[in-house]
Amino acid sequence: MAFTIAIDGPAAAGKGTISRAVAAHFGFAHLDTGLLYRAVGCRMLEGVDPVEAAQSLTQTDLDRKDLRGAEAAQAASKVATIPEVRAALLDFQRAFARRAGGAVLDGRDIGTVICPEAEAKLFVTASPEVRARRRYAELSSSGSNMSFAEVLQDVHERDARDRDRSTAPLRCADDAVLIDTSAMDIGAAIEAAIAAIDARG
Ligand code: C5P
Repeated sequence: MAFTIAIDGPAAAGKGTISRAVAAHFGFAHLDTGLLYRAVGCRMLEGVDPVEAAQSLTQTDLDRKDLRGAEAAQAASKVATIPEVRAALLDFQRAFARRAGGAVLDGRDIGTVICPEAEAKLFVTASPEVRARRRYAELSSSGSNMSFAEVLQDVHERDARDRDRSTAPLRCADDAVLIDTSAMDIGAAIEAAIAAIDARG
């Protein structure tokens, strides 16, 4: 049986952690679609044409160790504005979404473009300051020496690029449940997500 859970939202809102927990709870497969754009962004930084990179993405590209860094994130949000890049990644995401046994996909346009028919949709958000604080803690613990101000600027820049692009801009689907995690710890956010999905199922 196919059952798709679409989880969208801006950078560092807690989507990744919530998506992994939701997938584990329901026994579903999980796809972090941001990794696809990050992998294309990293190839672009190496001089490869982003459309060609998206059309020929391999598992090796997705296993790179530098995908989680801030440079990859900025490059990802740039290649993500190119319609041909998004088109090249569409079929893979849709096939993943409809796999037997259920799937959780997290990203920016899952509930609006990739899986408008998803059985459950969440939009996870938090204030830019809260998201930057979380991202700063994450980056610091992995050895980055970016300042809080730089991380906040990165969050603002990516938000603007994701919201203002003409193809598949970041927005809450009309039928998505909105979860604002600004004042929640991660345990409460996961509980809220599972409760919202149970209510749909
Ligand atoms: O989610 P993550 O921060 O890893 O995504 C990196 C970038 O990839 C985002 O800022 C966004 O521009 C892009 N992205 C997207 N659509 C998705 C997932 C990510 O445009 N479904």
